[in-house]
This record gives sequence, structure tokens and C-alpha cells, in this order.
Amino acid sequence: MKLALPEPTGHLLLENVTALAPGGPKPVLRGISINIPPGSAVALVGPSAAGKSSLARVLTGIWPAVSGTVRFDGADLAHWNPEDIGKHIGYLPQDIELFSGTIAENIARFSQCRDEQIIEAAGLAGVHDMIQKMPEGYNTQIGDGGQRQRIGLARALFGLPCVIVLDEPNSNLDGAGEEALVDAFAELKNKSVLLLLLRTR
Ligand SMILES: Nc1ncnc2c1ncn2[C@@H]1O[C@H](COP(=O)(O)OP(=O)(O)O)[C@@H](O)[C@H]1O
Ligand SMILES: [Mg+2]
Repeated sequence: MKLALPEPTGHLLLENVTALAPGGPKPVLRGISINIPPGSAVALVGPSAAGKSSLARVLTGIWPAVSGTVRFDGADLAHWNPEDIGKHIGYLPQDIELFSGTIAENIARFSQCRDEQIIEAAGLAGVHDMIQKMPEGYNTQIGDGGQRQRIGLARALFGLPCVIVLDEPNSNLDGAGEEALVDAFAELKNKSVLLLLLRTR
């Protein structure tokens, strides 16, 4: 049975974590220990294939650790209800995976919510004006390119999760997108734990 644990504060702790890609032959992460306490903003910078995206998948519970422990607010991530992890850890994957549907539906992760929550997330991500300029506004079907990444950011910020993991959030942005991203970082500081995975340039 998985218990509903109290509201987390956003403490991430990796203890000697080793992880494989599902079905993969050898570990992509080996003996990783990291402590990211509440209130932190951390950027992990490394070259392509260093394991940044793998780390993001382990931290969000998508890939299990084969040994060692990932702790979220002290409890083994494997003991958390996956739905609660989704609610408390906002995640912008590198390969954005938005679903066919409207911008509003994608930001809200197809959950039932109040419109204000969607607009709040869009505001934080700096995409509200961009969306409003579209002919069908929030009801526009999801597009592609840099726009996807910016909508993906709004989805990661939806509900203001206590941890926000952004995997190469700047890889596909124009100047306005980069500016919105930097503004979002400033806004989120001291509200959520921020973990940025960035590729060495
Ligand atoms: N789904 C997967 N299946 C098998 N191997 C993978 C998978 N995803 C990543 N890898 C391997 O894990 C290593 C780290 O990849 P990744 O975490 O994507 O690095 P980064 O995000 O830093 O570029 C690479 O050698 C990559 O080939
Ligand atoms: Mg990656």
C-alpha cells in the first residue's frame, strides 16, 4: 500500500545511486550521490551523453535506481505515489512529448483544474502573451519548435511544484524565449527547488 505522505518541502537526496536504461546492458549512472536541499537552485552542466537526462529520469521516478536510494523529502522515491510525484516534481524533459490537444490541456497535463491555474503557469513561464496572440489562444492545438519548449516549461511549472527539473530548457529558444526563461528562474527562486540540466557549449 502506498501512503499519501505530507506535503513535501522539496528535498532531493541521491545516495550512491546506480541506474540502467530499461533493458540496457550497463549502468548509465554509477554511484551518484547528490544532496539538493529545499531552497536550492542547482545547474548541472556536462557534455552530451554525460547522463544528464538519465539523472532527470531517475529523479522523477521514471527510471528506478537499481541500487542506492533516491530520497524525496526523506522517503524513498519508490514509496511515493507516482501521481503525487507528478504533482510535486515539475519536469521539462529534453524530448518534450506534448500530446495532441490544446495548449491549455497540455499545460494542465489534461487534469481538471481552474483556468486560473493554467494562466498562472503560463504567466510564470512567460508564455501568456504569446498564447494570447494566437488566433485561438489557449484553445490552439499544440504546435512545434521553440513554441513547444515554452509550453513545456509552462507545463513543468503548473501548480508550482516544490521541485522543478528542466532538461536543457534553453536548447530550442529564440531571444524572447530565453528572456522568458531567465525571468522564470528569477521568479521561481526561493519558491521551488530548481534543477537545471545544461549541455556544455
Ligand atoms: N533509453 C536509453 N536506452 C539505452 N541507453 C540510453 C538511453 N538513454 C540514454 N542512454 C545512454 O546513457 C548515456 C547517457 O545519456 P543521457 O542521459 O541521455 O546523457 P545526456 O542527457 O547528458 O546527453 C548515453 O551513453 C546514452 O547512450
Ligand atoms: Mg540529455
